[in-house]
Amino acid sequence: MQNFVITGGNRLSGEINLQGSKNSALPIMAGAFLVSGECVLKSCPVLTDVYSASRILNRLGCKCRLSSGEAVIDSSGASSFEIPDELMREMRSSIMFMGAILGRMGECIVSIPGGCELGSRPIDMHLASMQKMGVEISDINGKIHCRIPSGRAHGTKISLSFPSVGTTENIILCAVTAKGETIINNAAREPEICDLCNFLRCCGAEIKGDGESRIVINGVEKLHGCEYTIMPDRIVCATYIAMTAATGGEMIIKNACISETEPFISVIEQTGCGIYLADNRIYVRKGARLRALKDRIRTMPYPGFPTDTQAILMSALITADGTSVFEENIFDCRYRHTDAFVKMGADIQVMGKVAVVRGVPEIHGADIEATDLRGGAAMVIAALSAEGTTHLSNIYHIDRGYEKFEEAVSSLGGKIRRE
Ligand code: EPU
Repeated sequence: MQNFVITGGNRLSGEINLQGSKNSALPIMAGAFLVSGECVLKSCPVLTDVYSASRILNRLGCKCRLSSGEAVIDSSGASSFEIPDELMREMRSSIMFMGAILGRMGECIVSIPGGCELGSRPIDMHLASMQKMGVEISDINGKIHCRIPSGRAHGTKISLSFPSVGTTENIILCAVTAKGETIINNAAREPEICDLCNFLRCCGAEIKGDGESRIVINGVEKLHGCEYTIMPDRIVCATYIAMTAATGGEMIIKNACISETEPFISVIEQTGCGIYLADNRIYVRKGARLRALKDRIRTMPYPGFPTDTQAILMSALITADGTSVFEENIFDCRYRHTDAFVKMGADIQVMGKVAVVRGVPEIHGADIEATDLRGGAAMVIAALSAEGTTHLSNIYHIDRGYEKFEEAVSSLGGKIRRE
């Protein structure tokens, strides 16, 4: 098991070139399974979750090659429809292959996916949506066996009770080659959904309305290969903004996705952190001590404040002037990072979905454990702003979403090493 050793106190300054989005890359890699040709994905981040997706594709009979910043996927030899348990458990996005495998093979065998522990993460909406598209689902020896008797899913109207990101993606992946028209009401509007749809359109899919609550998909017989550039990662972008806000200094984030990061930017600006936007660059400058936020920070589906940036924003507000109140509305257990912050000297009280953060003048290094991907990244930010040295264990969580994290942080002047 690897750890980060981080010594805080340095102001971070410099430039960062933003990586491609993990939460786009994974469903897009699943989408490449639908194509009986070659897809070249540019700006594909090099992450453990991307390696997991690549292993799944290879196991299904495809050829997936990852090199620096590029994935080349040739699915012409697709021969299997079963994902073994150990690959399903590696990440939540393994479930995204369900829609794609059904779309291509008419049958699939999967199991409950892994991923960050953020409370209960059922897949009931995924399964119910597949059933509406003509998929029969049974439990065989603890595995989920999905089968379309006619071999091809049919279009239908699906109204989601909650705009689930993964469910919306799975329906799209199954519907693009289904017979007829599929309409998703109350669809998720996250930018990564649009990125998936843009990729599928490049492959010949007919999709309208992505980015809005009603998506209409007209199934086509076949998809063809393409070259596609994955969008920049808005959550990693927010991470570097919060890092500057927490440590002081100045940062230029290049290749940034400004409008997609807007829900985070508009909140952090209220803390007094200076943000200047130009073309696809974000310039961040922290002067005086941050101010706590007057309004409660409520996590919501896009375009609301993203749950993935809740811990990240909190890491910057631990030492702000005043009290900030968070309300986590997407996941029922997404405050596991707060124990580590408290160990570092933060004053945080969690009551159900609410966390009250009373700003303290400073925090100190401690021996702490990463609890999940974004919580782990938030702990790195806190450690960089703390007095003394922090030993952070379980950093495999962070490697799932941040490309060459310690290299980037070191290049900005942060003291961090992996051991
Ligand atoms: N939900 C159900 N039943 C379902 C599906 C979801 O009850 O069948 C519930 C979940 O338990 C959760 C809520 O609906 O309480 C939202 O889940 P959603 O399906 O929207 O999230 P997801 O697809 O599992 C993706 C991202 C997460 C991000 C959420 C919300 C990927 C790979 N993951 O998860 O990202 O937090 O959307 O925006 O895209 C991360 O990157 O660290 C991460 C956790």
